[in-house]
Amino acid sequence: MTQNLWTEVDRYITDLLVPADPVLDEALQASNTAGLPPHNVSPNQGKLLMLLALIHKARTILEIGTLGGYSTIWLARALPADGHLITLESNPKHAEIARENIARANLAHLVEVRVGQAVDTLPQLDNEKYNPFDLIFIDADKSSNPEYFAWALKLSHQGSLIIADNVVRNGSVIEVNSDDPSVQGVRRFNELLASEPRVSATAIQTVGNKGYDGFAIALVTSDN
Ligand code: SAH
Ligand code: DHB
Ligand code: MG
Repeated sequence: MTQNLWTEVDRYITDLLVPADPVLDEALQASNTAGLPPHNVSPNQGKLLMLLALIHKARTILEIGTLGGYSTIWLARALPADGHLITLESNPKHAEIARENIARANLAHLVEVRVGQAVDTLPQLDNEKYNPFDLIFIDADKSSNPEYFAWALKLSHQGSLIIADNVVRNGSVIEVNSDDPSVQGVRRFNELLASEPRVSATAIQTVGNKGYDGFAIALVTSDN
């Protein structure tokens, strides 16, 4: 009954506040047809990401974990005409579908999809003109979240926003002795948020049509 209610309320919110959008609907459809897993953020979460990027006036965005580009499209829609988003994806098939979806959304001029393991593509960003990034969204393999947080800090400036998806994982985040590498990655990530003096962070639990999970959000409060 709980999940049904969460799904119903998500539908209520989405019908009211996140009207159907042909470009985003097509992106999900194309991802689904291509056999991509349904791990995209939900529509109301996607809109939250866009709103955060707008509030933050982000001009440069880094995303780790593209999938079919659904969250990418939401984030890129917050960019000004001279903004830029780089999104990192290890799976070439995911990257290909994402590029098609991003092109259909008329955002190809603002978005770069880079293929490779993020641990390999992140160091290449060090010397680039879009570094530091105003907003960084971490949403790839959760076991690597501690490394991704270290890179996010390196690639940020005072005032950058770091957002991470899936930090609650159906509540399993509190299982101290979990043998799930994703849980341990998220736990370590949350501990790093707590101990890092250069950020001010919190996390919130979320429920909805994707179940029970959460976002973490960190503001970089001092320069590296
Ligand atoms: N942000 C997307 C969902 C991402 S799902 C959205 O909300 O729409 C996680 C993605 O991370 C998958 O496409 C997966 O292939 C990718 N991924 C997993 N491990 C990775 C790695 N080591 N480096 C880069 N991408 C990775
Ligand atoms: C999974 C990954 C995600 O990023 C997500 O939002 C939901 C599920 C997964 O790997 O199961
Ligand atoms: Mg996610």
